[in-house]
Amino acid sequence: MMNHLEKEKQLAAKEAVKLISNNQIVGLGTGSTAIYAVQEIGNLVKQGFNIKGVATSNKTKELAKSLNIPLMDINDVNFIDITIDGADEFNSDLVLIKGGGGALLKEKIVASMTNVEVIIADSSKKVDTLGSFPLPIEVVPFAANYVIRELFHMSGFGKIRISNNQPFITDAGNFIIDTDFGTIADPVYISETLNNIVGIVAHGLFIKLANKVIMGVGESNTTVVYQ
Ligand code: A5P
Repeated sequence: MMNHLEKEKQLAAKEAVKLISNNQIVGLGTGSTAIYAVQEIGNLVKQGFNIKGVATSNKTKELAKSLNIPLMDINDVNFIDITIDGADEFNSDLVLIKGGGGALLKEKIVASMTNVEVIIADSSKKVDTLGSFPLPIEVVPFAANYVIRELFHMSGFGKIRISNNQPFITDAGNFIIDTDFGTIADPVYISETLNNIVGIVAHGLFIKLANKVIMGVGESNTTVVYQ
């Protein structure tokens, strides 16, 4: 039987995909929640919708191709109508932590070019204060230990993400430093400080990028929208 969080992810994805209109350019998110949305978008294409997708990762690109979703290179579009993506945490101000799947750089670029950024989530992602989920920070490998020391000065404890006993490598060839800041009471301050550290390519705090969060509620088989 499907566990209740998976059910909530599906509910949110289905609801979000209803917001897509014919002839739109659609940003395709990354992660276990976004997969459900990409599959639904595949169904729209099957039904004859003329949708052009912009993928936020190589993984999503492969999935979209397997579902026959036509893709566009991001450099060939000026804007994206709507993007549906997941998040690791969100609060009531629609500030997000993203990057658990390592795709934060492209996700942030796509979100920045998107008119309507829709986040889909299960109920475990809603928090009062951000920070239980370590903040993913993408760095050029050359700067990794320098950045870890700078984070320490901000009371952040960063660890290079490891996968198969090797540093995890992003689509852009970078490392991820997962950073424990404790509770993040002032995300704007953390975000701006991180933006000024040389070697950081992107961090997982998404501020003023999400227009709405659709959260699945398993018990009632419904969704709640935060906007
Ligand atoms: C990918 O890099 C992430 O930003 C994901 O959107 C985020 O980690 C949510 O992933 P899940 O839907 O798998 O929880």
